[in-house]
Amino acid sequence: MPEIINRASAPKSGGDCVYHLQLKPGDVPRYVILPGAPERTLIIAENWEDVREVASCREFKTVSGAYKGMRLAATSTGIGGPSSEICIHELNVLGVHTCIRVGTTGCIVPQFDLGDLIIPVACVRHDGTSITYVEPEFPAFADTRVVMALMQACETLGFRYGLGLCYTVGSFYIGQGRPLNEDGSGYWPSFAERIIPDLQQARVTNIEMETSAQFVVGYLHGMRMGAVLSVIANRVLDRWGDNGGEERACLAACEAMKILAQQDERG
Ligand code: URA
Repeated sequence: MPEIINRASAPKSGGDCVYHLQLKPGDVPRYVILPGAPERTLIIAENWEDVREVASCREFKTVSGAYKGMRLAATSTGIGGPSSEICIHELNVLGVHTCIRVGTTGCIVPQFDLGDLIIPVACVRHDGTSITYVEPEFPAFADTRVVMALMQACETLGFRYGLGLCYTVGSFYIGQGRPLNEDGSGYWPSFAERIIPDLQQARVTNIEMETSAQFVVGYLHGMRMGAVLSVIANRVLDRWGDNGGEERACLAACEAMKILAQQDERG
C-alpha cells in the first residue's frame, strides 16, 4: 500500500494549508473582503497599514493588513459560483465568519447609473453552484447586520447607493442577454431576448455572476455575508464605465467591516 499523504475528500496543500487558497490557520482574520479580481485585493488594501501579500494561487490572491487599526484581509474569488464556493469554504475552515463581496454589476433599472453602489438584500439564484448545495426554492439573502453596516458606511462616506434585488447568473454573454456578435449574427435563442425585460418586470435591479452562490454557501456555513456592487454596466442606456464606483465600493466594504467589528466587540 502506498503511504497516504493527502485525503481526496479533504485535500490540504503544504502541511496545514487549505488546498486552493494556500493559507494556514492564523494567516487571515475573521473578517475578509471578497473581490472577484486578484488585482483588486491590492486596490482594497491601498487604505490599509502593514499590508502583506499572504498567498497567490490561480484566481485566489490574499492580502492582509489593518484598516484604522482593525485586522482585515482581502481574498479574490475569481469569476462565478464554482471558485466562490471554494473560496468561502476554505475561508470558513480557517475561522472566517464575516465576508463582504466587492464587485461590479450591470444595472437594469433607471434608478441606478454608472458608478452607483448597489447593496443586494437578496438574489435570484441562477449561479449554477448553489443548486449543488440546496434546493432551488432556498433563498439567497444577505445578513441584515452586514447590510445595515454597508448602508451606514455609504451614508458616512457620502456615497450614492441603493438596496437591490440581484440576479446572479453563471454566464456573462447569452445568460445576461448579450448577443455574441455586434451585428446580431450567431447563436441567439429567443429566451435571451426576454431575459432583461422579464427581470425588469420582476423588479430585479441588477445582474452579476457571484453573489447568490456566496450568500447561500456562506449562510450554510454559518457565516455573515453581504455585498456592495458598483455599477459598471448600464443596461438601460447601453453604457459601460466605472466612474469611480469600484474604489468607492472597496472603501465602503472596509468601513462596514470596521463598524461590524466594533459592534462585535461591544457584544
Ligand atoms: N458583471 C457582470 O456579470 N455583468 C455586468 O454587466 C457587469 C459586471
